[in-house]
Amino acid sequence: MKSLFALIVLAALLGAVSSAQAAGPSVPLDSVAIDVNNEASLQRGAHLFVNYCMGCHSAQFMRYNRVGRDLGLTENQVIRNMVFTTDEDGELVSSGSLMTNAMTRAYGNEAFGKAPPDLTLVARVRGTDWLYTFLRSFYRDESRPLGVNNVVFENVGMPHPLWELQGWQEKRKDADGTVHLDLLRAGTMSAPEYDRAIRDLVTFLSYLAEPIQADRQRIGIIVMLFLLVFLVLAYLLKKEYWKDVH
Ligand code: HEC
Repeated sequence: MKSLFALIVLAALLGAVSSAQAAGPSVPLDSVAIDVNNEASLQRGAHLFVNYCMGCHSAQFMRYNRVGRDLGLTENQVIRNMVFTTDEDGELVSSGSLMTNAMTRAYGNEAFGKAPPDLTLVARVRGTDWLYTFLRSFYRDESRPLGVNNVVFENVGMPHPLWELQGWQEKRKDADGTVHLDLLRAGTMSAPEYDRAIRDLVTFLSYLAEPIQADRQRIGIIVMLFLLVFLVLAYLLKKEYWKDVH
């Protein structure tokens, strides 16, 4: 009975492992070191996000002024640089609004085959390495409706939003099946500049998915220091209490 149970658990575990692998991308992911304490990087990322992504994607669980506060921007800077959405009367929405946009699901489904998902939590769902590799892996593919494909997300419905910056890439396969992306036409940024821009964008997406993470890390360090000091005090107290007991 016991061994049967063990067998079932083992089979379930193996199943979980193999399905996790099956869902993974077909190319190795590039890893990215992000720093959510880097305010300048977060600001650059936010700038890219509102200018290049929010036409299609929302971040509907976040408010503009919360981003402004966390990223060290004044109310005016937030209104001027981040808020482009208007309400029914054509007025800019207030800085306290949620970061939504005007694209309906029905329109998104019709235009792209799949409505652009909300991106507030995408960094937690996909991970930062996945996002970093995905946003650098678009390539020309005439067989796709929009003429563009992605090696990390095969047959993605999203056009390359940053083609002006990155330029266009072409996919090449080695004899051993390794996938390479060669630059076909240069964009306004060099490859290292584009990588840096995407790192900023991914840093912002990571912040968006967990705005409290910088505070959490800081508080964690303070708590560890407190416990260390407390350990010393507790040890001295213990020595004091036990000094006459043999
Ligand atoms: C022209 C519209 C459009 C723009 C602009 C756009 N996207 Fe998308 N995006 C889409 C669509 C449509 C999908 C859904 C694709 C699918 O599932 O096939 C998508 C999917 C994604 C996904 C995958 C989500 C998931 O987990 O499945 C990510 C990540 C993403 N977009 C990030 C971005 C970022 C970052 C930007 C800005 C640099 C951006 N997008 C700009 C249309 C757009």
